[in-house]
This record gives sequence, C-alpha cells and structure tokens, in this order.
Amino acid sequence: MKLWGGRFSKATDALVDDFNSSIRFDARMYKQDIRGSMAHAEMLGKQGIIPELDAALIVKTLGEILQDIEDGKVEFLIDAEDIHMNIETILIDRIGDVGKRLHTGRSRNDQVALDLRLYLRDECDRLADMIKDTMQVLLDVAEENTDTIMPGYTHLQKAQPVTLAHHVMAYFQMFSRDLGRLKDARKRINVMPLGSGALAGTTYPLDRAFVAEKLGFDAITGNSMDGVSDRDFAIEFMSVISMLMMHLSRFCEELVLWSSHEFSFVEMDDSYSTGSSIMPQKKNPDVAELIRGKTGRVYGDLMALLTTMKGLPLAYNKDMQEDKEAVFDALDTATLCLPVFTNMVKTMKIRKAVMRKGATGGFTNATDVADYLVKKGVPFRSSHGIVGRMVAKAVETNRDLDEFTIEEFKEFSELIEEDIYEAIDVSTCVAERNIPGGPAKEQVLAEIEKGKALLNA
Ligand code: ARG
Repeated sequence: MKLWGGRFSKATDALVDDFNSSIRFDARMYKQDIRGSMAHAEMLGKQGIIPELDAALIVKTLGEILQDIEDGKVEFLIDAEDIHMNIETILIDRIGDVGKRLHTGRSRNDQVALDLRLYLRDECDRLADMIKDTMQVLLDVAEENTDTIMPGYTHLQKAQPVTLAHHVMAYFQMFSRDLGRLKDARKRINVMPLGSGALAGTTYPLDRAFVAEKLGFDAITGNSMDGVSDRDFAIEFMSVISMLMMHLSRFCEELVLWSSHEFSFVEMDDSYSTGSSIMPQKKNPDVAELIRGKTGRVYGDLMALLTTMKGLPLAYNKDMQEDKEAVFDALDTATLCLPVFTNMVKTMKIRKAVMRKGATGGFTNATDVADYLVKKGVPFRSSHGIVGRMVAKAVETNRDLDEFTIEEFKEFSELIEEDIYEAIDVSTCVAERNIPGGPAKEQVLAEIEKGKALLNA
C-alpha cells in the first residue's frame, strides 16, 4: 500500500503510477534527502516531539541506507513515487514503527523544496570551480598573446586592431560576471524551507533554526506558503546557467568562424575536431557547434520552468515536479560543455601571423589617421570627413591607407608628414590605446593580474 493510501479503496492504475512518479529523475537527490531527514529527525528528538532513542535509530538507519545506496544495493521503486517516499519506505521496512515517526511535522512539499535547495547549493560550488578552470585557461591564452595583433570587429566588419589577449579577456569579464551571479543566486538558494509543512506550517514546536544550522543554511524561509511554492531559486539558477551558456556560445561562434578557411585564425586540435563521412578533406569544429547548439536547449529549460510556474495558484501544485528535469538538464548540459570548451581552447593552435595580417587590411587604421589630424589641431568631425575621402580614394585605387605616398596624403591635408606611417602602423594603433580597459599591452597585463588575483581569492 502507498504511504498515503489510507483513504483509498483502489490501487493506483499502473499507468498513473508511471505517470505520477518522479523517481527516474529525482533519485539523484538521495543524499540531500537523507541529510535533510537526518537533521529533521535529530531536531524532532531534541524537541521531545518523538522519543530521542527513536530519533537516534532513525538517524543511524538513514546512514546505513545512504551507504547501501552508494554501494548500489538499493533499488528504487516506481510505485514509491519519488525519492522522498522511496527512502521513507525503505526506512520503515527496516525499523517499522520507529521509521513511521520521521515524517512528523513535515510534508513532501517542504521536503522537496529542501532537497532541491541543498542539491543546487552544492552544484553552485561545483559549477563555480568549473567556470574558474575555464577562466584560468583564458588567462593563459591572454598572457601568451598580449602582442598578438588581430582585427577587432563591429558588424563583423573589420573595425580597429586589438590583440588576441584583449579579445579573450573580454570573455574573462563575462565569466567573472557569471561567477558573481552564481554566488548571488546561491544566497537565495541557501534558505531553509522545512517547517513550512504542506503549506500552513505545523503545530509541532519544530526548531527550524537548528535544522538550518545543521544543514548549513544561512536563513529560514519567512512564509510557509512561499516556502513550499517558491521555485524562483531554481529559475534564477537556470538563468545564470543560460547566460553562462550564452557566453560559451558566443565564443564558440567566433571559433567556428576563426577556424574557417576564410579566417584561418585558429586551428582546432585534431583531438577536438571531427571529419566528414563523405568529404575526405573536412575538419569540422563540431565541438564548438555543439556547445552553441546546446545553448538553445538550456534556454528551453529556463523557458519551460518559467512557463510552468506562471499560472500556478498558491501553494504547492504537482506541476512543480516538472522543475527537476529542466533544472537538471540545464545543469548537466553546462557541466558537459564547460570542460570540453576549456580543453578545446587550451589545445587549439593560434595562427598569430594570420591574425596580424587580418588586422592590417580593411582600413582598420582609419580612425588613427583621423586621430593623427586631430592631434595636429583639426576638429575630429572634420578629420573624420577628410579620412572618409581618403578611404574612398583608397577603395577606388585598391590600396590601403598606408600605401599612399606623402604627396597623396598632402592632397587631403597639408598637415600630414612622414610620421604618419609610424602613427598608423597597427602596432602603434594598439599601443596608443593605452587607456584603462583598452587593448594596449600595459592595460591588458593589468587586467590579467586582476584576473589572477580573482582566481586565487
Ligand atoms: N515529487 C514531488 C515533487 O517533485 C514531491 C512533492 C510531492 N507533493 C505532493 N503533495 N504530491 O514535487
């Protein structure tokens, strides 16, 4: 019979058992469920709500069950519905009436909220470590490429020269914000809901603060109805992962472009590329593409839970059981993508000469010609116009700006002298952008140092 079967005269249809059950996907929370139950039982004993000896036996038996699960000796049952009732059933099988005291003053509604919070709290820490590994590799790439000049783009049109270090450190910034968001989400995850009961709290004198402290929570929830029906924390966690995936995906998109024949800025290591079953010459950036693709899937997970929650009246509704597949899928996807991304970046070959060559064509130094005139007293808007006309002539005659002779330059402005060539060399273009946050080596090195400090903190 079901643990809740008292008022029923018929068994659940097998189809419904299957449909209703969440054990397939919530079994992974067994450790959190048991930890939560141990704390709850200990508190019940301490408060004299159940005999202390019973509490002790419950705690001890739960410990044994945990060990048996880890040893692969336990088989969960579909008709025990979910991880909570599976474990409670095993407990009762082992110690009978004493086990039946565990669920005093508790509902699965506050229990599942507790388990998921405990689970996601631990995952926040694990994910943060993985993000830090990614950031470390970005720092390494940046450190080796502070002099690797490459074109910077806007509208995917060549814009101004930067360095690969500067480009990569842009992603470092994104991932450090992801870390910050994760830490922030963790604060709202780490609040203890037990004591909310089914929705209206409980009549027993539970010591909620004791349970919170035992389980390492920073606070307890302040409203029992919210305590059982809040899934903001899971949604927030998924939105953090979504944004993380967006960052991975943007970099992957660039790597797909950069590894194309047209760009040839990088070459993926053979161990991080795949071939074609028909075209013998192919070497495809499947890894980068798949990470980009899986980003859509994580967004889907986020949307799924947002949509599930949008019409739910207070308090708990069974719809909320759908939270777990979405949140676990998002988590598993990020967990899968991060190390693959990190190693792909770590192993790829960077073609510095091609990058530099890419930085020189396409008038990436046009702004610097304009700035040259500004330094000689021409108002910027006027110098912009002058250089625009130069570019038009260069396009017409199929040249770069630094291919003009000094006489040709002077046709546009008498102020231009021999030093123009030095002033608009791509190396100068980068070096002169020596402003905090800019691409000049000194600035990027300063950011790399800050990055190292952040990772070592
Ligand atoms: N498996 C359920 C879930 O994931 C646990 C809570 C069930 N509560 C209930 N009243 N049916 O949400």
